[in-house]
This record gives sequence, C-alpha cells and structure tokens, in this order.
Amino acid sequence: MRHVPTLERLPACVTTITDDFSLSVIHGLSRVQKTLPCRFFYDARGSNLFEEITRLAEYYPTRTEIGILNGCAAEIVDGFSSGDVLLEFGSGSSLKTEILLDHIADRITYVPLDVSEAALADATARLGERYPELEIRPLVADFSSLTKLPNGFRDSRKTGFFPGSTIGNLAPNEAITLLSNFRKVLGKQGRLIIGVDLKKDPRVLVRAYNDASGVTAAFNLNLLARINRELAGTFDLTAFHHKAIYNPRVGRIEMHLVSDCMQDATAAGRSFHFNMGESIHTENSYKYTLAEFRELAEKAGWKANRVWTDDGEQFSVHELI
Ligand code: SAH
Ligand code: AVI
Repeated sequence: MRHVPTLERLPACVTTITDDFSLSVIHGLSRVQKTLPCRFFYDARGSNLFEEITRLAEYYPTRTEIGILNGCAAEIVDGFSSGDVLLEFGSGSSLKTEILLDHIADRITYVPLDVSEAALADATARLGERYPELEIRPLVADFSSLTKLPNGFRDSRKTGFFPGSTIGNLAPNEAITLLSNFRKVLGKQGRLIIGVDLKKDPRVLVRAYNDASGVTAAFNLNLLARINRELAGTFDLTAFHHKAIYNPRVGRIEMHLVSDCMQDATAAGRSFHFNMGESIHTENSYKYTLAEFRELAEKAGWKANRVWTDDGEQFSVHELI
C-alpha cells in the first residue's frame, strides 16, 4: 500500500483560509446588492456538483480545454526538468492534470492547492494510486491570499497550472492582482499555464450556466444549504431560484439566487430580509478575447507567450513567462 500524503495547511501568516465563512456571509448579505463569495460553493457537496457540471452536454469548457491540453501537452511538458514543481491553483479533482502528469510524474513534485479539503483528499488518493512514483504535497489554502510556499520549494523551478477558467471568477482588476501575486510565488524562472474561457455567442454561454437537468441550479442553491448546515441558517431552499444571465457590457455570466417571495432568513445569529425578486449575486464568470486576456496578463507583469485554442476558438490555454 502506498503512503497517502496528509493535507498540509499553511500557517495563517503565509495564507490561507483567512476568511471566516460566517463573517463573509454577514458582510455579503448586509449589502444593498446582496452577494456571497463564490469560493464558498466548494464544500464536499459543492465540489461533487461541480464535477457533475463538467460532464454536462451544455458545459462546453471542460471537454474543450481537455481537447486543447491533449493537443499541446507534449509542448508544455517539454519545459520540465527533473526536480521541478508543478503547482496547481484551485486543483479540484486534478483530472486535467493527469494529461501533464502522464509525461512527467517520475521527475517532478506535484503541489495541488485548493480550499476544498474533500476535493484535495479524493484527488490525492486517486493520483497516489495512478502514479506511485509521484511526490504529492497537497495544500489546503486560499490562492488569493497566498504569499509564499512552504520551505523546500523555494529553490525549485516552478510551473503554475490554473485550468478551468477559474481566473474568470474574479473581476479583471482582481485577476491582475492575483496573477501578479502568482508571479511572485512562482519566482524568477516561473511560468504559468492558464485556461481562459473565450467570448462567444451569448446563447451558448447562457445554456452552459442554465443546464436542462438543473445541476447548476443545485450547485448555486447548495450555497444556501451550506449556510443552513454550517451557520445554523434558516433559508428555505424552495423559496429561491437559480438565475444565470450574460451581461454583455462587462462580458460576464452572472449567477444569482432570486427570492420568490418577501421573506426573512437567519444565519450566523443575524436576520436578513428579502423582497420578492431580490437576489443574492453568487458568481461572475468573465469571458475574454485572446487579445484582452494577453493584455491583462501583461498588466500583471507576465509576458504572454504561447497560446493554444480549439478549432472553434471556444476556449484557450495560455503560457505566461
Ligand atoms: N481546476 C479544476 C477545478 C476548477 S473548479 C478544473 O479545471 O476542472 C474551481 C476550483 O477552485 C474548485 O476546486 C474550488 O474549490 C477551487 N477554488 C475556488 N476558489 C478558491 C480559492 N480562493 N483558493 C483556492 N481554491 C479555490
Ligand atoms: C470554476 N469556474 C470556472 C466555473 C465557471 O464556469 O465559472 C464555476 C461554475 N459556475 C457555474 N458553472 C460552473
């Protein structure tokens, strides 16, 4: 039996889950436009629902990015030397990572980093079975407040991997700050391979976030279920519905939970009032053109190097150096 690595938590001075769920909920639900940070989607149930989303016919990003990665993996892994570190931000199931690991598992250390302990534990166990020779150092951490890595990685050459277009869940100004921070964490010789969803026919986008079987709705509503479970909440999940729209002015999908009636709910010892039709804004998913994303990366101090896309230019994978 192979030894399964334990999940490491970075000390609070270095990152990590700095932010307390209850404070974020109280703060977000006290605003005029109520809001909740999308990183709280990913408890164990939320991570499983996200995996279900990735298999939906309407949700084109995952299969498209996998196709692109299969096509460019040989070019990406060419840049790895023995002793290098592959650091994945928001690694989730680490399924796409296998496309790279199939070539380099015998010579690198893999550091999956995620806020979801459940997703990290499952992925680490699966990868341990599949690649007995791979050194895995899983980190439970919030990538937005990561300032440095544990000892032992400082002198290694690091490649960051940030697939899935998770960068799109941040506003462009926050995305610049995050990418510039990743540049510091990855060091002088660092590079970043990042997946970015592209602007396209809004009908395709809206379908991807309003699937017919209601999995995205369940993913969105799970945020209220999580509040009920973890913060003694009293949200009636049948009195809210999922809404996803494309906002062309800023180029983003917006997800909301809309109240079906006038109601009050408590959470974390506070009461929150909802008018009929009032919403909680739960997620943004920004879409870019290739040129827009390259410009954003350069504002963060990176040089936008190679870029790979699918034939329909639905999705893109960028190499930043
Ligand atoms: N990279 C995977 C998963 C994408 S889903 C893929 O491409 O399929 C987004 C992942 O990022 C989830 O696993 C979620 O738990 C994680 N995540 C979201 N916000 C995060 C944050 N602030 N810090 C660390 N992980 C985060
Ligand atoms: C993780 N992230 C990039 C997904 C997205 O497409 O914005 C999360 C998601 N939300 C609804 N469906 C998928």
